[in-house]
Amino acid sequence: GLPARVRIHEVGARDGLQNEKSVVPTEVKAEFIHRLAGAGLTTVEATSFVHPKWVPQLADAEALFPMLRDLGGEAHLPVLVPNARGLDRALALGARRIAVFGSATETFANRNLNRTVDESLAMFEPVVARARQDEVHVRGYLSMCFGDPWEGAVPVSQVVRVAKALVELGCDELSLGDTIGVATPGHVLALLTALNEAGVPTSAIGVHFHDTYGQALSNTLAALQHGVTTVDASAGGLGGCPYAKSATGNLATEDLVWMLDGLGIETGVDLGRLTATSAWMAERLGRPSPSRTVRALSHK
Ligand code: HMG
Ligand code: MG
Repeated sequence: GLPARVRIHEVGARDGLQNEKSVVPTEVKAEFIHRLAGAGLTTVEATSFVHPKWVPQLADAEALFPMLRDLGGEAHLPVLVPNARGLDRALALGARRIAVFGSATETFANRNLNRTVDESLAMFEPVVARARQDEVHVRGYLSMCFGDPWEGAVPVSQVVRVAKALVELGCDELSLGDTIGVATPGHVLALLTALNEAGVPTSAIGVHFHDTYGQALSNTLAALQHGVTTVDASAGGLGGCPYAKSATGNLATEDLVWMLDGLGIETGVDLGRLTATSAWMAERLGRPSPSRTVRALSHK
């Protein structure tokens, strides 16, 4: 059966914007995040405390995060943190949810974190330990769970090894990333089943699909049928990844909400307000949203 309720983890302000060439003004980002929360999204990933040279778009994290203080009671505002330096920065501003981000493949670990897979896990270990000590919620992203642009198809067993390691470090939840959007539903079910067999419960697993091959919704439905209740999506389908060639748009939050509304699955999201937000953001970025639902609802 399908779940009664799905928690959407909105990544538009982070995964969505990190790939934009022109730097979006901090005030626009703050308004974007306020509008997303206002549309009923209860988890709105805000930014990343990474090296500013690696992701220039998010170099304003120190200025942005305090502008979101009034949202404290309304929405969780997780931030990406790769290392101790990132955690220091996030905790200094009062972040209560962080995400580390590992890779199932060596090539992407090297390109995204300048580390091997195991070196990146070693880098995360003290970060997760200190966050947990401070009762900060920790998400563990895992990229390239299905395919990698340099290495091709990624074996399920390879993903399971790194996923288990992230859980053993103390991550409260995992997010399985199809960074380049190559997954298909059978592959999704095979990975979820293998993770369960390795002792990772479905309740600790979220899914993070990119829509490169138009499979994101099909993959999501397969995951929901398996019992997953946390789904990552990006308002308007913004997104990509600066260190993964051919990583195009994330699953659009509007496309997801359209499907979930149709299935009678509760999300708390007001689709009209969300669509208006993405249309507004598309104007700021100077090009139309790639989301089918945003386009359909904007031209009624
Ligand atoms: P590095 O060059 O190996 O860093 O990069 P380092 O540890 O050698 O340190 C070098 C210098 O950087 C030092 O300064 C540090 O202080 C400074 P120096 O002593 O030379 O003056 N530094 C920092 N400064 C600010 N904030 C920090 C920080 N860390 C070190 N946090 C590093 C290693 C991890 C820092 C780098 O590789 C990095 O920042 N990577 C971020 C990449 C990124 O953000 N990628 C996008 C997110 S992942 C994604 O999008 C996938 C996802 O959506 C899921 C999916 O779709 O698959 C999540
Ligand atoms: Mg992503």
